[in-house]
Amino acid sequence: MSTSANDDLATARMWDAHAPDYAQLFAPLTGHVARTMLRMVEDRLPPAPRILDIACGPGDLAVAAASLCADRGGGAVLAIDISPAMVALAERALAPLGAHARCEVRDGQTLGLENAAFDAALSCFGIFLFPDRPSGWRAAAESLRPGGFLVTAVWRGAEHNELARAQVEPLMAALPARLTDPPPRPGWAGLATAEGLAEEVTSAAPVADVEIHVVDATLALPSPAAMWRGMVGNPITGSLIARCEPSERATVERAVLAAFERRAGGRDRPLVLGASCHVLIARRV
Ligand SMILES: C[S@@+](CC[C@H](N)C(=O)[O-])C[C@H]1O[C@@H](n2cnc3c(N)ncnc32)[C@H](O)[C@@H]1O
Repeated sequence: MSTSANDDLATARMWDAHAPDYAQLFAPLTGHVARTMLRMVEDRLPPAPRILDIACGPGDLAVAAASLCADRGGGAVLAIDISPAMVALAERALAPLGAHARCEVRDGQTLGLENAAFDAALSCFGIFLFPDRPSGWRAAAESLRPGGFLVTAVWRGAEHNELARAQVEPLMAALPARLTDPPPRPGWAGLATAEGLAEEVTSAAPVADVEIHVVDATLALPSPAAMWRGMVGNPITGSLIARCEPSERATVERAVLAAFERRAGGRDRPLVLGASCHVLIARRV
């Protein structure tokens, strides 16, 4: 399956609009996972590693990777994302490490990096969101030298994820029936188990020696209202909310906010949610 240029533009626009909230609300959580991913492979990389960050978002992984290169006095990071606003945030974050990093707007489904030979291609909650994931896994693997590492983080299922349950359960209960019947199944449900993730990546990409690790993290938001704002901007939950009529939307917002306020213990209380993901590490063959 390949996606059209219009779909790619729409994706980029959605993430552009969400970029400031994402950086403020969610990047502290994903940044923790990103740094953990890098730590898991850094000892297996050469002294001056060439590292690719696919779907870099605001740049936490790229910053950690460029800092590693700076500490070692060699190596370089290329950070790419389809959203120009995300790339601008990553560029700003990477400015102090400029000698070791550069950012580009690129589609991770195709990459277009002919003759690339990275030592590691990492994607923290990136490729699993692509409409054409097999192309994303393949492009990532093909950007590596033989023996290089593909490393990616993907959320585990709702049964392991308070963060997912806290959003999905009140949202599904409050949405009008026409939007939830049949229940919307995220296209990445098959990736939520370690077996499903390993099977999909190894079917699509020339990799072997797969390891899967569990990484837990905590999202701490200043208030229930911040969580709702994040849900509206996030392309996954936001696309469902956007399909409500204005009066339906007000009802959904009240119901979801009330559920968050019960969890937080009040409307001005922080909302703290546990989350869990798989980190896959595999070697280019
Ligand atoms: C959940 S965010 C993850 C960002 C970052 N890696 C992190 O861990 O915070 C998903 C990112 O994927 C990017 N993205 C979505 N589709 C993409 C594509 N086809 N090519 C490159 N980036 C894409 C979005 O712009 C967004 O920055």
